[in-house]
Amino acid sequence: MTPVFPDEEIARTIPLDEIDVSKPDLYVREAAHPYFARLRKEAPVHYCRESAYGPYWSITKFSDIVAIDTNHKVFSSDVSNGSFVLDDATLNPINGGISLPNFLGMDPPKHDAHRLAVSPIVATENLNRMEPLIRQRTQKVLDELPIGETFNWVDRVSIELTTMMLATLFDFPFEDRRKLTRWSDVVTASPGTGVIDTWEQREQELRECEAYFKDLYAQRARIAPTGDLVSMLAHSPVMQELGSEEFLGTIVLLIVGGNDTTRSSMSGSALANHLFPAEFAKVKANPALINSLVPEIVRWQTPIAHMRRTAIEDIEFQGKKIRKGDKVAMWYLSGNRDEDVIDRPHDFIADRPRARHHLSFGFGIHRCLGNRLAELQIRVLWEEALKRFSQVEVVGEMVRVPSNLIHGFIDIPVRLHR
Ligand code: HEM
Repeated sequence: MTPVFPDEEIARTIPLDEIDVSKPDLYVREAAHPYFARLRKEAPVHYCRESAYGPYWSITKFSDIVAIDTNHKVFSSDVSNGSFVLDDATLNPINGGISLPNFLGMDPPKHDAHRLAVSPIVATENLNRMEPLIRQRTQKVLDELPIGETFNWVDRVSIELTTMMLATLFDFPFEDRRKLTRWSDVVTASPGTGVIDTWEQREQELRECEAYFKDLYAQRARIAPTGDLVSMLAHSPVMQELGSEEFLGTIVLLIVGGNDTTRSSMSGSALANHLFPAEFAKVKANPALINSLVPEIVRWQTPIAHMRRTAIEDIEFQGKKIRKGDKVAMWYLSGNRDEDVIDRPHDFIADRPRARHHLSFGFGIHRCLGNRLAELQIRVLWEEALKRFSQVEVVGEMVRVPSNLIHGFIDIPVRLHR
């Protein structure tokens, strides 16, 4: 069943220069798609003069997003030029007096050195080593779910599994693992969105995060490398040169990178199962299809709605003059629904040919470091889920994250059927 979106009529008739796809309200109501469809057709490189984040360009076609994302010489991620998200206050906040420098917000050569320092964590042998533990934990979470009773899939499945995974990656004390969930939520929150009340509260909670990790760091630095991320950072020569803000920034990048995103994919997969049960039945009948099911989940959900760059020189792009200093938003959520590249893009198709050809992990030098790990977690979830129940039924009103960055859910009330 192809989903129907709110605002179809408004999106068709509103003057183009009044379209502002950065409004969080559009994401709470899953109403952004009709606006993106209009932009892709009539103004694929679109200038929004006025928004809560100031003026910005929107790039909405698949191929244009690839072109911008791979041109890091002109389109910078470096926080010294702005930020890598539309809202300068998120992830790169001056607000609350705490700054979180990390390699997603750096250009080469600094970016490359930092990325190299943490990449061994997602090397194939490390993933192979982690798989049995991920499977064991996934089985336990699924076995404890009530059959035939209503519960929140986001909390009981998505958050539980991704938080366990993060605890494993950092070798973080298991009983404290929900702290990771909280910190991840706090980092991307601004006052008034229900997570924090003030910037001061945010700073205080992030200082707690910093203190906790510094302690772990000191413990791991004293002993031989143990293979987890904190140990890797503690023994990395690059990291030795960093100040405490950069250490915190790197930790926070990994917490947010590995948490909200995989969580959203897992949540989106429950909705996909509800809307497209026949697609999951195909995979149950032919388990090899898990290889296309997983990337299709990641494409269809698109957990990160946009990434932003800042032009560091004037450039003409698709006939438009983008000026030095302009903000440029690459809407992955739109590119992944670009009908010129993706056939029936709003449909969820478990055996989609070339399923990995999507934008959810970005492109270019910042392409998601954790993509294989995320896919592994989602694969194990559905391999185990399909053995246990036939359908996830959404039985009530879903609550979505009020954000133009994290495209995800807070609550999906579901009932499981054997
Ligand atoms: C389905 C899950 C995930 C999605 C959709 C996702 C998405 C993304 C996106 C869109 C980017 C930026 C790409 C760009 O700017 O071109 C990114 C970067 C990154 N992600 Fe992920 N991510 C996921 C899971 C993970 C996991 C599990 C980890 C960590 C273990 C992780 C760590 C990172 C890091 C460190 C970066 C920065 C890379 C760089 O700047 O070089 N991500 N991710």
